[in-house]
Amino acid sequence: MADGFRQALTAAEAFAGATAPNPPVGCAVLDARGVVLACAAHQQAGGLHAEAAALAVCRETGLIDRVHTLIVTLEPCNHHGRTPPCVEAILASPVQAVWIGARDPNPAVAGEGGARLARAGLEVAFAGDLDHRDATGLSRQAARLIAPFVTWSVHGRPWLTVKQALTAEGGMAPPAGARTFTSQASLALAHQLRRRADAIVTGSGTILADAPLFTVRHVPDPRRAPRRLAVLDRRRRTPAAYLDAARRHGFEVSLHDDIPALLADLAASGVLEALVECGPTLLDAFRAADLWDEHVTIRQSPRPGEPDTVEILNRLAA
Ligand SMILES: NC(=O)c1ccc[n+]([C@@H]2O[C@H](COP(=O)([O-])OP(=O)(O)OC[C@H]3O[C@@H](n4cnc5c(N)ncnc54)[C@H](OP(=O)(O)O)[C@@H]3O)[C@@H](O)[C@H]2O)c1
Repeated sequence: MADGFRQALTAAEAFAGATAPNPPVGCAVLDARGVVLACAAHQQAGGLHAEAAALAVCRETGLIDRVHTLIVTLEPCNHHGRTPPCVEAILASPVQAVWIGARDPNPAVAGEGGARLARAGLEVAFAGDLDHRDATGLSRQAARLIAPFVTWSVHGRPWLTVKQALTAEGGMAPPAGARTFTSQASLALAHQLRRRADAIVTGSGTILADAPLFTVRHVPDPRRAPRRLAVLDRRRRTPAAYLDAARRHGFEVSLHDDIPALLADLAASGVLEALVECGPTLLDAFRAADLWDEHVTIRQSPRPGEPDTVEILNRLAA
């Protein structure tokens, strides 16, 4: 069962950053002996939900009669949205047991999907109930996956991931003539953080110093909708040529005067997660306002050739 959960979480994580305003969700379908028959993810808003997608794979591959257990990272929905309720797709299949990673955070429907499946006679349980040493970890991973959706739908602002790279001496500026000082592995991590974000937030100081591209290049990116690039720039110093180039690279670009108004604007356009990639001035402003949910610090080793260290703090409820 733990393996099925891991596969469902991995499937969902591959589409984090591509599903807004829906949360990323993954689903694995197992036979009665625990063999994974299919695994699928919700790939974009308007597309099939993960449960329906995984069951469709079982039908296409002729395995539907073997279906017994469905593992899904988020409680199946029980309401009509852009697609029919997943609870009905499950009830119309041979599924007998449903394991759920995280409860539906929507207060209006919380618990309803699981309760309806249980009322229909299915066995329903949660990742935290697994009799396995990884139960807590899997449950937390499922909660982290939907944390941006929770912050957005409950608190009305995007989940804020702040990324800060520090040189061996503790500074943020790259050496003269360079744009970065971190290793290839840290660069890949930075691009993973960009991929799962619906918006990049930066300051005019960073653009004037480095003119970063902010595109996702070092990891695959399944996102189809344009990503937002929001620049805090009260004095409007960002060069027009930079903004034009960012648009050509697929960004929807905007300039802003203050952080709270920017966050409200991003939330209104369905941004679930924003990555803050800026210099020390704006970073201090975000920290002073206590506006961060995840803080990723990449530290260059003082010993040349040794890997950077990465520290990730997040404010997910325990
Ligand atoms: N190591 C890293 O992780 C990293 C990441 C990015 C950049 N950097 C480095 O950081 C340096 C640039 O740093 P920086 O501090 O000059 O740039 P920054 O923090 O990216 O941008 C500063 C600008 O943001 C705006 N701003 C700041 N606080 C604001 C607030 N509360 N509300 C509205 N706007 C606000 C201001 O624009 P106005 O002045 O127009 O008001 C300010 O000039 C470069 O050397 C760059 O290489 C390092």
